[in-house]
Amino acid sequence: MNRVALVTGLSGQDGSYLAEFLLERDYDVHGLVPYGRRELCDPRCQLHYGDLTDASRIAAVFNDVSPDEVYNLGAQSHVRVSFDLPVHTADVTGVGALRVLEAMRQHRDASGRSPRFYQASSSEMFGNAVSPQDESTPFHPLSPYACAKVFAYWQTVNYRDAYELFASNGILFNHESPRRGEHFVTRKITRAAARIKLGLQDRLALGNLEARRDWGFAGDYVEAMWLMLQHDEADDFVIATGQTHSVRDFLEEVFGHLDLDYNDFVEIDPQFFRPIEVDALRGNSEKARRILGWEPRVSFSELARLMTEHDLEEARAEAQGLTSETPN
Ligand code: GDD
Repeated sequence: MNRVALVTGLSGQDGSYLAEFLLERDYDVHGLVPYGRRELCDPRCQLHYGDLTDASRIAAVFNDVSPDEVYNLGAQSHVRVSFDLPVHTADVTGVGALRVLEAMRQHRDASGRSPRFYQASSSEMFGNAVSPQDESTPFHPLSPYACAKVFAYWQTVNYRDAYELFASNGILFNHESPRRGEHFVTRKITRAAARIKLGLQDRLALGNLEARRDWGFAGDYVEAMWLMLQHDEADDFVIATGQTHSVRDFLEEVFGHLDLDYNDFVEIDPQFFRPIEVDALRGNSEKARRILGWEPRVSFSELARLMTEHDLEEARAEAQGLTSETPN
């Protein structure tokens, strides 16, 4: 019989890569998806409308699906937006994980087993801790989003310790792809650069160009999620490339690839700054390499190139009138 996975946030970047990864391994993949959000959902997945604020719906979906593995990827995941929507972010991103854990605790399959649980924890939890950050680095969250993720992290650990559930945290550093939402900085840059190249846009407004992030490829990172749930024991793992680059480096890489100078197009707009910033993240994922055998495959330059090439194709289609994209 096929294994059954339930993925919250299936319609997001990570959900879509994870669904493909699981489908290739003959899983039946189910998604908990807010009503109307099916853009990135693979048609081979079975969708269940619902969201992380609704405990009774989550329980009902568990009963319908009886999953072997649960991946909690759903969240209000934009850090700057979380300063505008702190309570909503705490509810979805923090208490939402707890609602899924409660459904897990209540749910048993025919042989009395609970599913295995993956929590999408975040490198934002480290705040400005000295880098490289690893599993032993203390958390110091610097946004409502990061506070909510710390809450969810510890609930996951607590459910593991208190109820002996198989519940693991993947502490993922930034991971990007052509499917990244257009309000995150990498995709915002690659879309704008491609549109500028084709004369569809002439300015790009950004915030802090000096922030440094450890950027990997989302397609590589979903494999780590899966490996965590195949391991003998539940545990917590940092997933990162170990390299750090500034937003400015990413601009140089992308615009350079298109033979453009970003200085001619970028303007700084205060609305994109955050009330407090995480200055620099760089992860040490040695534990995941050693225990799970996981390694990132796509380098920073390759990532920038593949996202730019994808967005150039999209911009070409737009220029030919095949789509009607608007700049963000
Ligand atoms: N979004 C955005 N837009 N960020 C900008 C901009 C802009 O116009 N200009 C500069 N930045 C800077 C931000 O201040 C931040 O330092 C950096 O670019 C990256 O911002 P995001 O791409 O929004 O990602 P993030 O690092 O805040 O959070 C992402 O990664 C986390 C993992 O560390 C999100 O995916 C989180 O959900 C995830 O947990």
